[in-house]
Amino acid sequence: MSDDDGKTRPPLPSIPWREEAVADASFLAQVVDTVAHPIFVKDRAFRFVLLNRAFAQMVGFSRAEMLGKTDYDFFPAEEADFFRAKDTEMFESGRSVNIDEETITDKHGQRHVLSTTKVPLVGEGGRVTHLIGIISEITRLKAIEEALRRANEELELRVEERTRALRAAQEDLVRKERLAVLGRLAGGVAHQIRNPLGVIKNAAYVLERGIRERGATDDATRAIAIVHDEIDRANQIITGLLEYARVRAPIRTTEDAADLAREALDRVSVPADVRVEIRAELTPPVAVDRDQVCGALENLLRNAIDAMPNGGTLVVETRALGKWVAVVVRDSGGGLAAEVRERLFEPLLTTKATGLGLGLVTARTLVEGQGGRLRCVDAGPPGAVFEMLLPVTPSEAPAKPS
Ligand SMILES: Nc1ncnc2c1ncn2[C@@H]1O[C@H](COP(=O)(O)OP(=O)(O)O)[C@@H](O)[C@H]1O
Ligand SMILES: [Mg+2]
Repeated sequence: MSDDDGKTRPPLPSIPWREEAVADASFLAQVVDTVAHPIFVKDRAFRFVLLNRAFAQMVGFSRAEMLGKTDYDFFPAEEADFFRAKDTEMFESGRSVNIDEETITDKHGQRHVLSTTKVPLVGEGGRVTHLIGIISEITRLKAIEEALRRANEELELRVEERTRALRAAQEDLVRKERLAVLGRLAGGVAHQIRNPLGVIKNAAYVLERGIRERGATDDATRAIAIVHDEIDRANQIITGLLEYARVRAPIRTTEDAADLAREALDRVSVPADVRVEIRAELTPPVAVDRDQVCGALENLLRNAIDAMPNGGTLVVETRALGKWVAVVVRDSGGGLAAEVRERLFEPLLTTKATGLGLGLVTARTLVEGQGGRLRCVDAGPPGAVFEMLLPVTPSEAPAKPS
């Protein structure tokens, strides 16, 4: 057998046609009962007058229990209110009502998510006599949708995290690259400038001696002193640049944080009007380059002292913080100036007439070289607080592969 479009159809079984077989009421009831979608019929008093097996199974109540009763006899009040409002809307408009999403709580307290259509059944004289409800249960669909949404969110978060990590790594790389170039440049320039500075310094000594022998004027003595000071300052700048640009790889030893703080304090000259307090908690040993950490601490201590030109209190605290030991430097000065708050740790940022603006960046580079962290935890006023986190010595040395 061949159709117009050329497709072949399988032969039909020959069964005699009987109209009454499909018009039969019990046959229709059987069909309704067998449909997998929950179906119910309500009268104008909102009573259930018919419901199929799928509906009874979904709500957990038997057909006998439900017939002649309303939603309020079975479901939570707020759900019944919603169903009633939609039923009323259908009866009043005489038109189908689609509900994309609603919930129903079954006999066992389980919530089902439904998509429901309520259709009017029109009787004699065009009057709407009943409401037919046809339900698609979308609980699983909603669960899948929710899981998908959550998976998506998680994915976005992970991408964001990775992007952030990547950006940080890239910035780190750029910084290191720049430092390496600066290191080479600074090394070259330092050498070139230190030589003439040395020559100038020697010449200044000769001049000084000559002037003194011939009876020095105050002006000449002052001028020579200025030359000496400025040479020292130029040398300091070169030292600062070299320290910033040429951080070597750390040589780690096992150290006590409070001990490092004490050594750093010894290295700086503390004015008589600055009181020093060391508050050392018992902390686990840290694995760091002693000289580098002391150098970083020195920079913080110098800044703290600079911030207290009229004296004050300098507090150095050490405490255990999980896998870190925190070394906190706190002063009682005026706090960070507004213009440095946003840009702290940028090279060459200084508010001091003779500052170089490399102290904090150098300190951070040194601390990060140990795998540690350095940040300003309180900008003040009063006083600024800087916190250095140093990595605790791993208690168990990783087993070496044999
Ligand atoms: N403890 C502090 N109190 C107030 N301001 C500070 C403190 N530490 C740092 N600063 C500010 O940060 C700037 C940069 O510090 P730093 O990098 O050490 O450079 P420098 O000390 O040469 O200015 C300082 O000029 C100062 O304005
Ligand atoms: Mg400084």
